[in-house]
Amino acid sequence: DGVVTIGLLGCGTVGSQVVRMLSEHGDDWVARSGARLQLTGIAVRDASAERAPWVPRELLTEDAEAVIDHADIVVELIGGIEPARSYMLRALHAGGTVVTGNKALVAAHGPELHDAVQAGNGNLYYEAAVAGAIPVVYGLRESLAGDKITSVAGIVNGTTNYILDEMTTKGLGFEEALAAAQALGYAEADPTADVDGHDAAAKGAILASLAFHTRVGLDDVPTTGIRHITAADIAAARADGNVLKLLAVAQRTADGVSVQVRPTLVPQAHPLAAVRGAFNAVVVEAEAAGRLMFYGQGAGGAPTASAVLSDIVAAAGHVVRGSKAPRESAYAALPLLDPEHV
Ligand code: NDP
Ligand code: HSE
Repeated sequence: DGVVTIGLLGCGTVGSQVVRMLSEHGDDWVARSGARLQLTGIAVRDASAERAPWVPRELLTEDAEAVIDHADIVVELIGGIEPARSYMLRALHAGGTVVTGNKALVAAHGPELHDAVQAGNGNLYYEAAVAGAIPVVYGLRESLAGDKITSVAGIVNGTTNYILDEMTTKGLGFEEALAAAQALGYAEADPTADVDGHDAAAKGAILASLAFHTRVGLDDVPTTGIRHITAADIAAARADGNVLKLLAVAQRTADGVSVQVRPTLVPQAHPLAAVRGAFNAVVVEAEAAGRLMFYGQGAGGAPTASAVLSDIVAAAGHVVRGSKAPRESAYAALPLLDPEHV
């Protein structure tokens, strides 16, 4: 009948925007995906908590398993490892399709998710896991599939870019800038993941795996965050004509791949120096294409929901046609990199 049911796990910063977009665009989804998208349940931690006015209260529940078991597409926007991991495995083992923005989980449990995709003959989509609204997962996996990528580098964490930017341009203190990033919905539930670089490391591992066709684990990414950066460091950088940015850099090397995350001095004339607020930018070098730059909003409810919806549209198209996506869980399927070569 062309109806594809969607079960949402999590209705916070991103999940609530997904609900809004699903309801506002109504019949438009049929034209975009070939399916009528029907939200059938929304699992949250506290079903009695106040929600945005557009969230249908009758769909809210604390029974996530019931939501999973009654949906063609499960959209996981809880975050963290558990219970998100168990919920996703339940959906995948049952043959379902999962859309997620959970980079921590995809980076740490890729092979397990891949096995579940294979076992259930389902699908896994994660465009929202890297760089918010920017279609960089699709860009690397699909658009650049015909080229040999030599490096991927950029700003992939909106919270830390926002903090550094506020410290640089407004003279805000670190804690004050972090609190503002949290209030704007950019930060992870535990902002340590942002501040100490772990969120950027997860994204760097995913990007490197996609770009270089080898699975890079989190342990293979030396990571330094921005906790130790002071106003004096920022001023010294500026005096030298540079801007301090937290960069994730992944490169092909003579004997493998190297990925790292660390605060880096970027010359003011470089395009990455102009990336403000919670925006992200990823610079890709490919042998034939040369240099490409992906730029846009890297965090926040609506921009991230845009990426989630693009995955839902793709997934719904495949569900309604009864087909699988061409390269659906490429990341998770990749072999693990030998750490000696990183
Ligand atoms: P929030 O903390 O705003 O929302 C989390 C939601 O999950 C809440 O609705 C919460 O319920 C629900 N939840 C928490 N624990 C459970 C549980 N055990 N069972 C059911 N529901 C639960 O997170 P975000 O929306 O910011 O992030 C969601 C995901 O998207 C994360 O993986 C994050 O990394 C990713 N992401 C976030 C971006 C952003 O800019 N915020 C950007 C890109 C990706 P309740 O409301 O009742 O507390
Ligand atoms: N906390 C993340 C960030 C959300 O600040 O970039 C987007 O992945």
